[in-house]
Amino acid sequence: MTEDQSDVILEVRNLVVEFSSEDGPLRAVDGVSFAVRRGEIVGLVGESGAGKTLTSEAMLRLVRCPPGRISGEVRFRGQNLLALDEPALAGIRGKEIAMIFQNPGASLNPVFRVGDQLLEAMRLHLREPARSLRERVGEILGRVGIPSAATRARDYPHQFSGGMAQRVMIGIGISCVPSLLIADEPTTALDVTIQAQVLALLRSLARELGVAVLLVSHDLGIISQMCHRVLVMYAGRIVEEADVATIFRAPAHPYTRGLIDCLPRMDGSARLGTIAGVMPGLRSLPSGCPFHPRCPLAEPRCAEEAPKLRSAGDHHSAACLLVGT
Ligand SMILES: Nc1ncnc2c1ncn2[C@@H]1O[C@H](COP(=O)(O)OP(=O)(O)O)[C@@H](O)[C@H]1O
Ligand SMILES: [Mg+2]
Repeated sequence: MTEDQSDVILEVRNLVVEFSSEDGPLRAVDGVSFAVRRGEIVGLVGESGAGKTLTSEAMLRLVRCPPGRISGEVRFRGQNLLALDEPALAGIRGKEIAMIFQNPGASLNPVFRVGDQLLEAMRLHLREPARSLRERVGEILGRVGIPSAATRARDYPHQFSGGMAQRVMIGIGISCVPSLLIADEPTTALDVTIQAQVLALLRSLARELGVAVLLVSHDLGIISQMCHRVLVMYAGRIVEEADVATIFRAPAHPYTRGLIDCLPRMDGSARLGTIAGVMPGLRSLPSGCPFHPRCPLAEPRCAEEAPKLRSAGDHHSAACLLVGT
């Protein structure tokens, strides 16, 4: 992957998502910044409640939070998506930026045939005659690995297994040839063997089509198999960022080390590691470093000072006061 800035297709700067409560604003996403380059697969990982889904949905203004707010900048092809009017943004969502969610069953409409839903997704964005789009339906379903695609196009969603339904969602996602695909826990609802097949499909499509992927998952194992670069999220913040080899070889943040220690080993034996405690809720965020109450290395200053992301090596940063000391 080159470091040429012209390769950057998405740049998120200081993204904040706040909800309001009687006790004041609750900050669920707290100043998140990152970039995605053309054709790159970037992983966003962290335990449940870290703010991964809100981050990915807020980028496309899919979070309803009034009287809370979304702020920051989401630059895509030179435009700030957070400042676009709704019709302009609707022209980008589903076309240039596609989204795939955890539960494919809920994303498909039960009363329409699968092929018609794929056709409709293309009709919404592509100015091509209906007949040529209709011909593409079978082609796309075949490409995402649905056997007897032309026949299956006439089936309804309930006739598809979870894995096959997620393949359909991926087909809808790539149907308009996006430059970015955001996949939020795309295989979490699937059996392990099916999970591996769907991930392999995502990876090969990303490579063949040159589409960049932001892969959101609580599972560092999945992220390690799929991604070039990793963003580790905790309590609404990015706490570490590095390429995937560096994350595993030289993790700088104790939270990242904790996630790695929880992974099953190659020989099948479980590691002993667990991270004590749980992710704090928005109403009870700790002072200083939000990870300090769970951190095996915490010092008194960690309860006072909130660490900013700082360099931990080449193209590697971590938000921990102990980094570089
Ligand atoms: N509409 C909402 N109102 C208030 N809090 C919310 C809302 N949606 C999400 N949250 C909170 O924001 C935090 C991050 O949620 P989410 O982005 O779904 O986490 P993740 O996807 O990493 O599991 C959680 O603490 C969640 O409870
Ligand atoms: Mg989520």
